[in-house]
Amino acid sequence: MKSQGPEDQEPPRSHKGSNDHPDVLMIGSYPSWDMEILDASYKIHRLWDAPDRAAFLADRAGRIRAIATRGELGAKGDLIAALPKLEIIACYGVGTDAIDLAAARKRRIPVTNTPDVLTGDVADIAVGLALSIMRRIPQADTHVRSGAWARRSMDLVTRLYGKRVGIAGFGRIGTTVATRLSGFDVEIGYFDVAARQNDPRTYFKDLVALAAWSDVLIATLAGGPSTEKILNAPVFEALGPDGFFINVSRGSTVDEPALLDALEGRRIAGAGLDVFWNEPNIDPRFLALDNIVLQPHHASGTVETRKAMGQLVRENLAAHFSGRPLLTPVA
Ligand code: 8YV
Repeated sequence: MKSQGPEDQEPPRSHKGSNDHPDVLMIGSYPSWDMEILDASYKIHRLWDAPDRAAFLADRAGRIRAIATRGELGAKGDLIAALPKLEIIACYGVGTDAIDLAAARKRRIPVTNTPDVLTGDVADIAVGLALSIMRRIPQADTHVRSGAWARRSMDLVTRLYGKRVGIAGFGRIGTTVATRLSGFDVEIGYFDVAARQNDPRTYFKDLVALAAWSDVLIATLAGGPSTEKILNAPVFEALGPDGFFINVSRGSTVDEPALLDALEGRRIAGAGLDVFWNEPNIDPRFLALDNIVLQPHHASGTVETRKAMGQLVRENLAAHFSGRPLLTPVA
């Protein structure tokens, strides 16, 4: 994306007779290129900067007409309830599991997200993490830098190509991971709520069965109550001591103590992880492991994708405040 779209240059026109710079509450910051454009078009209230969040909110709750949040930060029910003039919640991210959608729906507050624009990057990092941990690329880098290479050869590693890859969650991101992997001559199996019509890849309606079949299990599931901790001890036992686990979905999909037990006990071979419970203060047990590769929830973190995500958030806000249809409403 080389240039900003026309929406970015134009402040939103007034909506429902209100002021030209609607009050927007931001839960966390966006990159500076987004902040500059948002500041020009809206009155931005930076919650993350407030030393006393409760006082900050109490002072301006009656003026806030939009929330601009991020996937991992969401908007809780008590925050939504505290904003009587709230008209829209725009999420920078595809996952809306941290937003209280029921509370928004009850007040007919539309929610938007940023699907599609991040799919390719998240799929890329899923493949990158699989290659990184199976070929032990970071460990190889350490082997060279530390001087160990001069003393001994690096241990042999595991190949990715030709393996069986199970994908848990076969939506936009999961199917794109499968497309990316087609160049690796892998066999693909997948788990989802239902089999895809006329899809030649093997469907597993049971996650444990998929894990038992897989050499590599990649999670691209949506977060939320229906997937909470479904990647659990029986799944890791089924994946087995030669199996690798990759997570680019949500930390919440994993029973983390069970994953840590499996990694520490070498009951799975390794993991590539972008997401965790309690981000960014992840369980310190992860840091002691040498059979994992870690990422700081950064699968969508390329300049190109983040620019597209920011633009989509702004276009949704601009559409709302000028009475046009939203681009990417969450159903
Ligand atoms: C985050 C994400 O939004 O798309 C999602 O659901 O979790 C990510 O893209 C990103 O880390 C920005 O905060």
